Amino acid sequence: MADVKVAVLISGRGSNLKALLDAARVPAFPAEIALVIANRPQAQGLAHAQAAGVETQVVEHRGFPDRDAFDRAMEREIRRAGCELICLAGFMRLLGAAFTERWRDRILNIHPSLLPAFPGLDTHQRVLDAGIRITGCSVHIVRPTVDSGPILVQAAVPVLPDDDAARLADRVLTQEHRIYPLALRWMAEGRVRVVNERAIVDGARAPSSLALINPSP
Ligand code: GRF
Repeated sequence: MADVKVAVLISGRGSNLKALLDAARVPAFPAEIALVIANRPQAQGLAHAQAAGVETQVVEHRGFPDRDAFDRAMEREIRRAGCELICLAGFMRLLGAAFTERWRDRILNIHPSLLPAFPGLDTHQRVLDAGIRITGCSVHIVRPTVDSGPILVQAAVPVLPDDDAARLADRVLTQEHRIYPLALRWMAEGRVRVVNERAIVDGARAPSSLALINPSP
């Protein structure tokens, strides 16, 4: 069976894009990153795509009269490239409800918290300010409200006593790079169903460790 073609949308550094590109290089991986779109020409992540020989497009949001026109311009590129799935990877624009409806259950996003806690920006500082002991990251199916939608996979990361936002972000990011390729693989294999706004992954195994306690007993 041909690999599912995927478009990845970025705005900046692109480390999650890189994790997806690296995963997709393995022949058995069921998805091909066929297109990378950035809404900013300076997005450093474009270099990762170019190094991997993947087509890049810059669609600058500022060049369009409204969100719908911007969304449609991206969509034209996505369809032209034959993509069936979209991964948001540090994409800093909110997609319109019409766009997310047309691509219902075919757009993934990664967010650096255990959603539905801490949606939005400045996540790690808010986590530290709240004094919670365990945070993490989530890959979810995109709905119109920011950082909402059925959750596919999460990784838990302990908050350590000497953390600042940057140190915590680094440790969470390492886990983001593990779970995003995993979620994309499940989607491309057609193993994900959404039932009553909950994502079910057919054949997914329970984790081997059943609890993360922080601080340790
Ligand atoms: C990641 O922390 C991701 O969870 C969030 O934005 C950041 C993007 O980082 N949505 P990168 O561009 O993938 O390196």
